[in-house]
Amino acid sequence: MMNHTPSIPSVVLGTVQFGMSYGINNATGQPSAEEVYAILDDARKLGIQTLDTAGAYGSAQELIGNYHRMNNQTFQVNSKFKGTDASSLRKELEQCLHTLHINAVKTYFFHSFSDYITTPSLLYHLTQLREQKLIGSIGISVYSNEELRQAIAEPEIDTIQLPFNLLDNVSKRGTLLKEAKEKGKKIQVRSIFLQGLFFKDPHTLPPVLFPLKSYLETLHYIAKVHTIGMETMCLQYVCAQQEIDELIIGVDTSQQLHRNLEAIQENCPASLLPLIDKVDVHENNLLYPYNWK
Ligand SMILES: NC(=O)c1ccc[n+]([C@@H]2O[C@H](COP(=O)([O-])OP(=O)(O)OC[C@H]3O[C@@H](n4cnc5c(N)ncnc54)[C@H](OP(=O)(O)O)[C@@H]3O)[C@@H](O)[C@H]2O)c1
Repeated sequence: MMNHTPSIPSVVLGTVQFGMSYGINNATGQPSAEEVYAILDDARKLGIQTLDTAGAYGSAQELIGNYHRMNNQTFQVNSKFKGTDASSLRKELEQCLHTLHINAVKTYFFHSFSDYITTPSLLYHLTQLREQKLIGSIGISVYSNEELRQAIAEPEIDTIQLPFNLLDNVSKRGTLLKEAKEKGKKIQVRSIFLQGLFFKDPHTLPPVLFPLKSYLETLHYIAKVHTIGMETMCLQYVCAQQEIDELIIGVDTSQQLHRNLEAIQENCPASLLPLIDKVDVHENNLLYPYNWK
């Protein structure tokens, strides 16, 4: 069997799980502050340099800031702002830097694509903050292909963050990742585990997700015949996409972090990738967890 050995994208540690109870498969709730600090310690030891956070992630920014205050070394941090008017953007960033206990945000993201559309002056203010080196680069978080297309066309946007996974896959995104790369964008992907959905027994889905059952069964079947663990398949599918620069991994425990970083290093049977590409979810709206309520 031929093995596919991908060039490994760098890993960014997601932090929404630190600041609030998160995920469809989450039985343990929000980790304690001590558990969060232990995960951050492990992340540092394992070579992770960057965190992904946001003002909207409950206590996540405070926990990261406390961790920085207690330790000599700091992480590079990407953060996101939401629904602000352009005149208060700088103030909000300064507050964010203070909370995180850092001098500059690595990439500052529009958390909502709609803010980019409704308040065009935000982008101008972000370019000023970038010039003043209070932020390293400008990012935008998108969901749909239409948002992705518009982000690709915006010259001032440096980084695009989007969901990409076994179901929100090549058959959904088509050539858009390639187009983004051609325009010089950095591509960062999230929702690699679709909030833990891939680890759920397809027979125990909540009613709203019943339409995804057959697709999940197909994925479990593909994993079984290739004798590959689900976390390995989730991660290796993303690593196999040459255009992806960074993957964001969200974990609730140190054990998951260790397991996921091991899974990234494993080989993946090349024959598995086209089978996943062919899984074509028709219910596009269910690919986005905000529609699961
Ligand atoms: N920009 C945005 O709009 C946006 C939106 C969402 C998230 N994010 C960022 O992306 C990060 C990741 O969130 P996501 O939605 O993309 O989550 P995800 O990576 O799709 O799923 C993370 C969840 O998968 C489960 N998991 C991870 N490793 C596992 C393993 N080895 N075995 C079993 N279960 C495992 C954990 O949930 P359980 O243990 O609870 O099952 C974990 O909370 C967040 O922390 C956040 O920083 C950004």
